[in-house]
Amino acid sequence: MHDVPFAAMDECRSARTSAAQPDREPATRLARIGDLPDYAYFNHAIHIAKGVGCSSCHGDVEAMPLMQKARSFTMGFCLDCHKNPGPNLRPSNQIFNTEWHRTKDTPSPAALMANYHIGGRNLTDCSICHR
Ligand code: HEC
Ligand code: HEC
Ligand code: HEC
Repeated sequence: MHDVPFAAMDECRSARTSAAQPDREPATRLARIGDLPDYAYFNHAIHIAKGVGCSSCHGDVEAMPLMQKARSFTMGFCLDCHKNPGPNLRPSNQIFNTEWHRTKDTPSPAALMANYHIGGRNLTDCSICHR
């Protein structure tokens, strides 16, 4: 099942590439989800590897077409989590579960932080995202 969302990410990328070609039919131009400005660095892989699930940033992607803008990514949104990621982290087998929420069986935020080796850097430093 992991292939499906990653395939969707690739589709998004190629949709973006074609949207960048002005001689294409207007109908093939698709709305982008994120639209982060170039001066803000973002990378999916680290978030997924460190226990941040898709729905923490995209909401319930299964109930909504991926191309629809689920959330607009402001710096404040990024910083809210970077200040204190622990409560937002989930076990790695729950990354793609859009209905995940903490339960009494979920390891504590501190335990998840330790498991994912988070805490060595100040994640609110400007240079984390503006390089
Ligand atoms: C920490 C937040 C975060 C997490 C977690 C996250 N995303 Fe994203 N995603 C973003 C941001 C920000 C963008 C926009 C990037 C941009 O505009 O450069 C984005 C863009 C996308 C896009 C559009 C791709 C593109 O190139 O425009 C897809 C599809 C997507 N994400 C799927 C996923 C899936 C599937 C997962 C879980 C495996 C996931 N995302 C996890 C923040 C996140
Ligand atoms: C729900 C929590 C959450 C949200 C939302 C989030 N992040 Fe993160 N981010 C993390 C965690 C956890 C790490 C990993 C920290 C570590 O390993 O020390 C991380 C790491 C990063 C890194 C470091 C990558 C590297 O390779 O060094 C960057 C850059 C980053 N995030 C950018 C963003 C941006 C930009 C946004 C908003 C679009 C965002 N993040 C939103 C939790 C989040
Ligand atoms: C976790 C990632 C992250 C960190 C850390 C971060 N930024 Fe940002 N920043 C963003 C993103 C994403 C945007 C683009 C979205 C927006 O404008 O809200 C942005 C936009 C900006 C902008 C242009 C938009 C505006 O509000 O004027 C400035 C200036 C800026 N950041 C300065 C800073 C400074 C200074 C710091 C350190 C104190 C910092 N940022 C730390 C992610 C981050």
